[in-house]
Amino acid sequence: MLVVCCSSMEKNIKYPSGPTSILPAKILRKFLHDPINTFNNIAKKYGDISHFKLARQDVYLINNPDYIEQVLIYDHHNFKKGKRLQTAKRFLGEGLVTSEGELHDSQKRVIHPFFLPKKISSYGSIMSKYSVDVSRQWIDGSIIDIHKEMIDLTFAIICKSMMNYDMDTKEAEQFTKAFSITKEYSKRLQHPIGHVLDSIPILPKVAQSRKAGQTLENIVYNLISDRKKMIQDQDISDVNNLKSDNTDLLTKLLLTQKANETTNLENQSKNNQKNNNIKNQDTSYSALPDKQIRDHLITMLIAGHETTANALTWTFYLISQHPEIEKKITQEIESILQNQKDEDKSGTTDNQKSKKSITVKDLPKLKYTEKVLRESMRLYPPVWSIGRIVKEDYDLGDYTIPKDSAIFMSQYVMHRDSRFYEDPELFNPDRWTDEFKRHLPRFAYFPFGGGLRGCIGEPFAWQEGILIISNIMMSWTMKLVPNQRIKLDPGITLNPKKGIKMELHSRVK
Ligand code: HEM
Repeated sequence: MLVVCCSSMEKNIKYPSGPTSILPAKILRKFLHDPINTFNNIAKKYGDISHFKLARQDVYLINNPDYIEQVLIYDHHNFKKGKRLQTAKRFLGEGLVTSEGELHDSQKRVIHPFFLPKKISSYGSIMSKYSVDVSRQWIDGSIIDIHKEMIDLTFAIICKSMMNYDMDTKEAEQFTKAFSITKEYSKRLQHPIGHVLDSIPILPKVAQSRKAGQTLENIVYNLISDRKKMIQDQDISDVNNLKSDNTDLLTKLLLTQKANETTNLENQSKNNQKNNNIKNQDTSYSALPDKQIRDHLITMLIAGHETTANALTWTFYLISQHPEIEKKITQEIESILQNQKDEDKSGTTDNQKSKKSITVKDLPKLKYTEKVLRESMRLYPPVWSIGRIVKEDYDLGDYTIPKDSAIFMSQYVMHRDSRFYEDPELFNPDRWTDEFKRHLPRFAYFPFGGGLRGCIGEPFAWQEGILIISNIMMSWTMKLVPNQRIKLDPGITLNPKKGIKMELHSRVK
């Protein structure tokens, strides 16, 4: 069904069908209360592309893998990031997640070397060690909130991997608490009068969020200044040859900054000597001020931990509900450990290996664990929807989407679409055969988005996820504590509303 509407004096817009008859304020209320089900119901009722209004904003929900491919891959230049991320700029700044255009391209060039396969592999030892360390601290029979544990663990891993920094417990706690206040507050900013309330600093929530923002700033700027002191005496004559292989992101950014400043000073003094006024045209010399380094760091710390923590939380939850799947994973792990033991006996391994942990070398053998993680991110995609704003009128299917409209593509909705997944609500890791993957349209499964703005951390996340699951399940079984209501809390990522409590049972008797 088509709806033709005369929304402005000159334009006759042909809208796809959608809940246009419902008052925009009513949809907005529904959306704020339960965005996932609102999208799910609209997609089920109106199909591949639907239209509605959220307050005064034209919104299109796209629920067809080919259309999503068109938007994210072929025509990405016609879109900018959605409003939610514009709001997030307030605390993320202009890092890789929020920046646009040339700034984004140049930032990606800086960050990219830290996500090349060899570098990702090098993070493996951190991932395995930290998982084993955490699981060694757990006590048989105790109750943990697995969401909190996973947030802490993935946060420690990202700090060590990107900054070679062991965040102490107090700092980590301060950071994650401040981050969670800032996240909650961002939701409030999306309320129709959120920005008005935000301008009243004496309101307790506003004051609290500003304090939290300041805490995040302090932690990150302290990190930057501490590291600056450490590299003060480092020789930077060869900074361009300092490959990302042997340094961390923070050090590399600061050494580049230092080299640029030195070159700037030298240039200045040469220019003074020659007494000419020719300006230095190379803008890279002024690149990477502390603020940009702060934005890179905060972006990496935030994008690089909460998503993976949610993926793992939901995975452990699903495993706890499916003993037959748990059994298959533990069999996979045991066979790897058995091989390690056999190799130990034949004297072919070093001491490190006999310490019993699952490492990067074991990844090719963890095929079933990978399927479990894949299936878990199908049912509970950590990023449950992607938003974009249309820059110029855009043709999609039978419609022209007007400039400035918002479009949404929801992983949560698409991943449960029965056109692509038999029995879509069933947690069935075995569905992920090579054959199934070959025939699945590219964007019927897109937990990491895709195209130019797709997730740079995807290989990091797969490796981290599989190593954490296997190293923890090597020692522990988790039983869901009864009488909990497990509820979704969809912000930018898909959290469980009140965490998930698990009772721990040691598997090493
Ligand atoms: C299971 C874990 C993860 C999931 C599901 C995930 C998902 C996503 C998605 C869907 C996007 C695209 C958003 C959009 O198109 O608007 C994205 C972007 C991004 N992710 Fe991830 N992510 C994960 C882990 C990570 C990790 C571990 C890192 C860093 C170590 C990371 C860093 C980023 C960055 C920097 C971007 C922005 C890329 C750009 O715009 O160029 N992510 N992620």
